[in-house]
Amino acid sequence: SGPATVTPTGQDSGTAAERVAQGGPYLTTAQGNRLYDTDHSLKAGARGPILLQDHHLREKITHFDHERIPERVVHARGAAAHGYFKGYGTAGNITKAAFLAKDVTTPVFVRFSTVLGSRGSADTVRDTRGFATKFYTSEGTFDLVGNNIPVFFIQDAIKFPDIIHAGKPHPDREIPQAQSAHDTFWDFVSLHTEATHHTLWNMSDRGIPRSYRMMEGFGIHTFRLVNDRDETTLVKFHWKPKLGIHSQVWEEAQLAGGVDPDFHRRDLADAIEAGAYPQWELGVQIFPDTEEQMFEGIDLLDSTNIVPEELAPVHPIGLLTLNANPSNYFAETEQVAFHPGHLVPGIDITDDPLLAGRLFSYLDTQISRLGGPNFAQLPINRTHAPVNDMLRDGMHQTAVHQGVAPYRPNSLDGGCPFLAGAGEGAYIEVPVEVPAGRKVRQAPETFADHFSQPRRFWLSMSAVEREHIIAAYTFELGKCYEQAIKERNLLSLARIDPELCRRVAAGLGLPAPQSPDDLPAVSASPALSQLGKTWPLD
Ligand code: HEM
Repeated sequence: SGPATVTPTGQDSGTAAERVAQGGPYLTTAQGNRLYDTDHSLKAGARGPILLQDHHLREKITHFDHERIPERVVHARGAAAHGYFKGYGTAGNITKAAFLAKDVTTPVFVRFSTVLGSRGSADTVRDTRGFATKFYTSEGTFDLVGNNIPVFFIQDAIKFPDIIHAGKPHPDREIPQAQSAHDTFWDFVSLHTEATHHTLWNMSDRGIPRSYRMMEGFGIHTFRLVNDRDETTLVKFHWKPKLGIHSQVWEEAQLAGGVDPDFHRRDLADAIEAGAYPQWELGVQIFPDTEEQMFEGIDLLDSTNIVPEELAPVHPIGLLTLNANPSNYFAETEQVAFHPGHLVPGIDITDDPLLAGRLFSYLDTQISRLGGPNFAQLPINRTHAPVNDMLRDGMHQTAVHQGVAPYRPNSLDGGCPFLAGAGEGAYIEVPVEVPAGRKVRQAPETFADHFSQPRRFWLSMSAVEREHIIAAYTFELGKCYEQAIKERNLLSLARIDPELCRRVAAGLGLPAPQSPDDLPAVSASPALSQLGKTWPLD
């Protein structure tokens, strides 16, 4: 085994021993014992029973029996590519992140995905798309784990199992694979109205992209950047495709999905192989880091909100180029493990309650998906920065750790280099003031408006785009079995726009609800006081 090999694209394809070629003059067992036959089991006579002593047969079948690992609980279907990111240096006044400095080139691995279908589902369905980027920076790994839609269904991660249970196929029949054409999804989004904005984006042309190469990407949450003077700024990350944003029309997506369910992964791989390398510019919307964390009346901690680019333009800070296909789907695309908590100095998080839950969830799921706690050692997940941790042993440990004192302080392994040079390169959390308050299960009042942003989105659409949205709601709601669910969704549409509601109602053959003013108030989780609970402190 030699040192890890880094290809021209910067991809780490493992040590020589790990890159197992399929070739050579003879086959062997996993132990290197040479085989002369792998086509026949060992038998007592040509027509006799197979012998249990046939180790090669047992090894071959046993290994095969364990070839599959669990698919991701969400974003199971994906396609990925290697490439590099080049900083413009334009973010230097707001972040000290080394990979964003001018002309610094950083290897990356990007995985695109659908959210709800299983690993073998079609690429072309109406769904949100994942856009996850792993930057192998000199300061450690930074993962930007985003989507192609700038808002999310929920404001608090505790609702994630609910929205995913509602969006995944029905538990009884396991249909449909496509996101939206079923009762549970529409039941949830009509009862949990903070999902209205994301759902509207899904029903727009953004829900059926033409190509991964022609999608925007969004970090969604607000992040906190820190510069080398320890000044902080709030930002939202955006990926802008050089090829522009393009979608399919619904009928086109149906045909493409039938003719070629691998439409998007084939498009990505073929383009890269042909040398038509897709590119995205990374940009940031910038907001002052005020105590309220609001901008123009928009709560920056509410991931169901966007900040319109008219109010905060996107400033380009670097360029992403994808120029190499994975050489092994399982080793790279399937085993890659992103985590929103993989951060580098200069990029910190905010208290977005959706982000907080993600910081817990990804590592947790990967321990089960990738068989234990050592998946950071897999070639695709290995950082390109030196590692000196005190993590030891565990399932699938491949490192041969040296030394006897994986603890600190110690007096045996030369003490511990703890904090040496920490001021230089260490990740130090910004010591932001934590707002004082009582422990409550409650959202802030600024999270309560679920309809003005969807309305603004609808009003920004062209006539053709509106027709597509009306057709999408009519088709998807038309697939619901429960009349009450259709009617409840019409109430949500009435709150977005009366014309949208009227047209979809007509398509469904149902009466449109009256004017939004006559509609009952939107239900929200009750505050404790509404439950009749009081405390001596009240
Ligand atoms: C996977 C994006 C919210 C849990 C993913 C992936 C993306 C993504 C792109 C696929 C990564 C890959 O290609 O391997 C987002 C975005 C969110 C969000 C943009 C909101 C802004 C959440 C929340 C939770 C969650 C709130 C849980 C509390 C997961 C899990 C996986 C996943 C468990 C599978 C990870 C794996 O198996 O490696 N997410 N997600 N996500 N997400 Fe999220």
